[in-house]
Amino acid sequence: MTQQRKKRAKMPSRLGRFLALLPAGCALLYPLYLATRLDLCEHTYQNSKIPAVFDGLRIAYISDIHYGTFLNDQRLNDLIGRVNALEPDLILLGGDYAENSDGALQFWQKKPAFQPRIATLAVFGNHDRTLPEENFLPIQKAMKAAGVIPLVNDVYLLEKEGNTIAFAGIDDYYNGYPDPERLSQLSQDADFIVFLPHTPDVFPELFSLPQPPFFDLALCGHTHGGQVVFFGYAPKTSTDCGNRYRSGWYHENGTDILVSNGVGTSDLPVRLGARPQFHLLTLTSK
Ligand SMILES: [Fe+2]
Repeated sequence: MTQQRKKRAKMPSRLGRFLALLPAGCALLYPLYLATRLDLCEHTYQNSKIPAVFDGLRIAYISDIHYGTFLNDQRLNDLIGRVNALEPDLILLGGDYAENSDGALQFWQKKPAFQPRIATLAVFGNHDRTLPEENFLPIQKAMKAAGVIPLVNDVYLLEKEGNTIAFAGIDDYYNGYPDPERLSQLSQDADFIVFLPHTPDVFPELFSLPQPPFFDLALCGHTHGGQVVFFGYAPKTSTDCGNRYRSGWYHENGTDILVSNGVGTSDLPVRLGARPQFHLLTLTSK
């Protein structure tokens, strides 16, 4: 896929840091207040390609935590507690754990205590892949020390009674070295394939290939739902696709795509028309 220059580590703006200090409950500052909320979105996801032995599999999906100036330990602990209380079989983390790779390393060194029944899988977002490049391997090492499996152009196979679901995590589209061909090869024998990119910007290039997409379901974040949205339209977006994959479910080229609003914020601690959210998907074959 297209390679782009890695971005230097970024810090929240002065205005953002100032806004983060204001009282979140102030009604006059509704966008500030909204950014501190967190909705659980529950989905029953049906697809006849899912082997029946996986009926009822519970998957929590969380993206764009952005731990740091705008999301403190209290909110992080609240998130982890709410996720664990769902008793998910798998927890999937969609990247952007902090504002930059230094922050991502600190986040993972805290050993956030996600507690699924089977495994927690994590991909990298563009904020996690900022310079310095030297943070890349220590972040993965810290993930493993926290009991989390990093998926960087790699696949986790969930097997049951001879049936397999593949979870294919790709390196970040903007600042990493994404390799969809490798993911396609590694997951080709699975009955059902869940693709985990950080950003929906991967889709136009993948859907322009002559062969059909290698995956069945994709879960991604990055957009923050537009973060500030007026009548369903975000004037400023973080993707090359503008509002095309801003938020919610999409059905394209025989695949299903869920774009999450994510948990945290970046640049400014404000949201409007794009509430923070995390997800619980319950799989069913029928
Ligand atoms: Fe993000």
